[in-house]
Amino acid sequence: MEIILTSLTFLTIIVLVILVGTKGHPLVIIYHFQSFMAQVRENKVQLTILSALIILVFLFAYFYYLMPNMNAGPLQPIPFSHRVHAGHKMIDCRFCHSYVDRSLDPGIPPVEKCLFCHKFIITRHPEIQKEHHYFNTKTPTPWKKVFYVPEHVVFNHERHIKKDVACEKCHGDVKGTDRLKHHEFKMGFCVGCHRKEKANLDCWLSCHN
Ligand code: HEC
Ligand code: HEC
Ligand code: HEC
Ligand code: HEC
Repeated sequence: MEIILTSLTFLTIIVLVILVGTKGHPLVIIYHFQSFMAQVRENKVQLTILSALIILVFLFAYFYYLMPNMNAGPLQPIPFSHRVHAGHKMIDCRFCHSYVDRSLDPGIPPVEKCLFCHKFIITRHPEIQKEHHYFNTKTPTPWKKVFYVPEHVVFNHERHIKKDVACEKCHGDVKGTDRLKHHEFKMGFCVGCHRKEKANLDCWLSCHN
């Protein structure tokens, strides 16, 4: 969407520049273009420079617009931001992920928990209207999971939280992130910290099954 808008703006600017530059006679440009092409045919250097420039512009657009999004996590059904909630508004992780130290499943908050605040805060915001929609139709919000362990691993938060291992140690800078990124934990990561912290290294008993 953003790309389309920018391209349209860019096109409009080019058209305006042409109209102003040719004093309202845009067709003059075809004449200029023909003589330019005649020159190019004589002089291949210009052609090379021109194509190099065009390629540069496309490369720039590609990196500028596509790279940041490739770096962000998947689009969620509601653009929930940990940066806004856990960072800026300093809401405690466990207010939303209540079972993190008690159950195998830390829990993604149900929409009721969002509405606890959003019944009162920015209630007309279109994204908050979506919450009401999920609530009224009793549909669980289809959040996309982003953190994975390989299938044969059972991970339990409980022991880690009891030992005060900070969420950030494993999940990174959640507080500073708008869209959480896909991440698959590798065994070396678990073992590395267990070795350092002198925690259990008996993989088969404790982690794999
Ligand atoms: C403890 C209160 C609280 C809870 C719970 C809460 N929010 Fe918020 N939310 C806020 C506040 C405060 C803001 C900032 C409002 C503002 O910008 O004025 C906000 C802003 C937002 C925005 C707009 C952000 C933006 O960039 O404009 C969205 C979308 C949102 N929340 C979604 C959610 C969802 C989804 C949940 C449930 C998982 C949730 N919120 C739970 C307090 C809360
Ligand atoms: C206001 C509620 C709220 C607060 C506070 C909150 N979270 Fe979340 N969290 C969510 C929601 C909703 C999702 C699902 C959407 C997403 O992945 O962004 C989620 C997803 C996650 C996930 C990804 C789970 C997965 O695999 O999909 C992690 C990890 C996480 N939160 C950690 C944290 C940490 C650490 C904190 C504290 C720094 C925190 N959260 C604070 C609501 C919250
Ligand atoms: C020792 C590393 C570690 C620590 C510390 C940790 N997590 Fe996790 N977390 C994980 C792993 C690994 C997974 C993926 C588990 C899975 O897919 O079964 C995960 C998954 C999650 C999920 C997603 C669960 C789901 O249903 O998809 C949430 C939410 C979460 N963690 C929140 C937290 C919060 C909040 C804290 C801090 C209070 C925290 N984690 C601390 C390793 C950790
Ligand atoms: C940042 C450090 C850290 C990371 C990363 C970490 N752990 Fe741990 N883990 C600990 C500590 C510390 C303990 C010890 C808890 C105790 O002594 O009660 C522990 C304990 C455990 C236990 C309980 C062992 C027992 O004594 O029964 C299991 C199972 C476990 N971790 C699995 C994992 C898995 C799987 C991963 C990778 C997804 C992982 N851990 C990543 C620090 C870590």
